[in-house]
Amino acid sequence: MARVHGDEEQQLLDLAQRVLPGGSFGNLAGDIVIREGRGGRVWDVSGNEYVDFLLGSGPMFIGHCHPDVMAAVQEQIKHGTTFFANNEHGIKLAAAIVDAVPCAQKVRFVSSGTEADAYAMRVARAFRGRDKILKFEGGYHGMSDYSLMSLAPKRPGNFPQAVPDSPGIPRSVRDEMIIAPFNDPVMAASLIHEHHDEIGGVIVEPFQRLLPPKPGFLKALRDATAEHGIPLIFDEVVTGFRFSYGGAQEFYGVTPDLCTMGKIIGGGFPLAAIAGREDIMSLFDRGKVGDERFLTQIGTLSGNPVAAAAGLATLGVLKQPGAYDKVFATGTEMMNGITKMLEKSGLPAQVIGVPPLFDIIYASGDIHDYRSWQRADADMSRRFNRRFREGGILKGESKFYISHAHESADVKHALDVVQSAIDAEAAQSRVAAQ
Ligand SMILES: Cc1ncc(COP(=O)(O)O)c(C=O)c1O
Repeated sequence: MARVHGDEEQQLLDLAQRVLPGGSFGNLAGDIVIREGRGGRVWDVSGNEYVDFLLGSGPMFIGHCHPDVMAAVQEQIKHGTTFFANNEHGIKLAAAIVDAVPCAQKVRFVSSGTEADAYAMRVARAFRGRDKILKFEGGYHGMSDYSLMSLAPKRPGNFPQAVPDSPGIPRSVRDEMIIAPFNDPVMAASLIHEHHDEIGGVIVEPFQRLLPPKPGFLKALRDATAEHGIPLIFDEVVTGFRFSYGGAQEFYGVTPDLCTMGKIIGGGFPLAAIAGREDIMSLFDRGKVGDERFLTQIGTLSGNPVAAAAGLATLGVLKQPGAYDKVFATGTEMMNGITKMLEKSGLPAQVIGVPPLFDIIYASGDIHDYRSWQRADADMSRRFNRRFREGGILKGESKFYISHAHESADVKHALDVVQSAIDAEAAQSRVAAQ
């Protein structure tokens, strides 16, 4: 099923090339223009239909245009769209987060995960009165100067030295970061012990990109940071309300001091949050900590009422009995189905992740950190992703996000497309071998 590219879409793509760097918003490649989404599917401007495993890069966990979310948003829009002042939905959303998320005693809203992570690192540094942050190689915490250290280094350095992943970052920032390999509890703990007097905080994706934590890894971080009173930050921008209602910290049974959230809590609108221990979060409260220790934090759209209404309605759906069972059942069927096909094909590829979020990694053997993941065949990955798109699957470069709205017809379609892609790869290998 080849994708038809109509004139209207082509004209938009041409216009995008003229006015946007690289012809895109910087996210998905600028070779498609999406017109609408409904449930677990999206349509491009040319009318091609896709099963959507991109989900807007994660927020649309209960599907596009969910009636509860639409109703809540439309109701709020009638009364105004932003006030800068407290609003009912934002307050209730904060209360829902406090009720759900183990570490959350207080919540501060911002508009993006990048902001949430930058503030979480800052508040940890301020609380502890130390400058350095320990992060993990390959860990994604948005686009701040600090987060872009050793996110995807082409030439990884020696631990714990940071490698900047973007030009334009002051050299001094490199010296403020300590980099450790994910899933190595011994190395992480020893770096924390060695540098404890300089470390303001440790930030980690509890599930790094697609890599589940090995048993004991998060606990080792918890123990080592607790020993020195160093705030441990879980970046739950992806995992919050996705792995379970209480996020990855509930799913893996390790409670950090602070966490960040985004994506799902905004229900498809720009909203993110920092949440955590009362004594740390009180640095955002001048009345509690006084002028000297107060950490100023302002954002025009923080706690936006439309976004908060959408987020609250989304959480309402996720709170219903069986919501996560459905997502996990869908994801498990996909993961098992793809795994079986890959095993039968003999291709050097495997499925990694958990049912709400996984992908195929084009490498065999144990993949547990950034460096082992580097062994994956990037060309094969591109070929498969191209075939998926041609077959009517929309996904990011390295993620299948599962939605509560995906139905068995979506799974069946996706598995058929994966099988065709595997067959095409096998045919290509046969031709190459001749
Ligand atoms: C783990 C993680 N942290 C932070 C971010 C940044 O969030 P945003 O894109 O809202 O700035 C992302 C975005 O994908 C993420 O996956």
